[in-house]
Amino acid sequence: MNPLERHEIPGAVTALAGKGGLPAVQVDSARSTAVIYQHGAHVASWVKKDGPPVLFLSGSSDFLPDKPIRGGVPVIFPWFGAREGHPFHATARLADWDLSESLLLDGGDVRLRFLLPGDDDLRVSFVVTVGESLRMELTVINRGTADFTFENCLHTYFTVGDIHRTEVRGLQGVSYLDKLLDRVLTEEQQAIRFTAETDRIYQNTEATTEIADAALGRLIRIRKSGSLSTVVWNPWIDKARNMPDFGDEEYLGMVCVESGNVREHAITLAPGASHTLAVEIDTRELV
Ligand code: BG6
Repeated sequence: MNPLERHEIPGAVTALAGKGGLPAVQVDSARSTAVIYQHGAHVASWVKKDGPPVLFLSGSSDFLPDKPIRGGVPVIFPWFGAREGHPFHATARLADWDLSESLLLDGGDVRLRFLLPGDDDLRVSFVVTVGESLRMELTVINRGTADFTFENCLHTYFTVGDIHRTEVRGLQGVSYLDKLLDRVLTEEQQAIRFTAETDRIYQNTEATTEIADAALGRLIRIRKSGSLSTVVWNPWIDKARNMPDFGDEEYLGMVCVESGNVREHAITLAPGASHTLAVEIDTRELV
C-alpha cells in the first residue's frame, strides 16, 4: 500500500506511484499542481494552470531509494556540499520522510507537512503550500541537550526557455564565493547572465531574486526568509556531459537558484531553539 494514501483529500491530494514506483502525491490546488515524492520530501514538479513547468526535472534523473532526484527541490540538510565519508549534499534528500498532515485551506491552497524520521533530538519538518505561489518551510527544532550546528538549502531547479536569454537579478553588490575559481568576489552586475559553468555561493544576503526568462516571457520571483546564502548554479556543457543523471543538453533549459544557510552562515541552535528557512516562489509575465 502507498503509505501516503491515508492523507488523500478527494480532488486535492492523490497518492500515486511516482517514477521508479516511488510513493508520491499529486497536489491539485485551485491555481496550480505539484508532485511531491516521499523520497526526500522532494517537490519534483510545480505547474501553474495553463503554464509551462516552473521547476525543472531532468529526463535522465534516477528515481531510486539511494539516489537523489535530479531537479525539483532537493532538501539539503544537515550539511551542504562535501563531507568526507558521507554523501555530497547530505542525507535529507535520500531519506523517506513521513507525510504527517494534508490540509485543504480556504481559497483552495493545499498544504502538506513532512517530518524527517530518525533523530529524537531533532524535529525537522518540511511544509509545502501549493497555490498561486509555491511556499516551502524547513523548520529545525533542537530537542536535545547540546548545541546543534547545521547547514541547509532548498536547492531549487527552475525551468527556463533558453539559458542564453536568462538573467538572475537581485544580487548586485553581494559578495560571493566563486567555487570554480575558489575566490571571493563581489557581484558587479545588475543581472547575472550565463555563458559558462557557474557555481557561486552569494553570502550574507536576504535579497529577493528574480529569474527573467526572455524565451518563455516569464519572470520567476524567489522570496526567502531565514536564509543568508543564495547559490546560483548551471553545470554548462562539460559538467552536464559528466553527470549520468542529467541530459547533455539540459543545461540549456534550467538554472538553480538555491536558498539556504551554508559555510560561514551555518546555524547553531541552542537546546530548545528553532530555525525556519522559508522560500516562496511565484511567477508573472515578463514585461
Ligand atoms: C550545487 C553546488 O549546489 O549543487 C554544485 O554548488 C553542485 O557544486 C550542484 O555541482 C549539484 O550537486 P549534486 O550533488 O546534486 O550533483
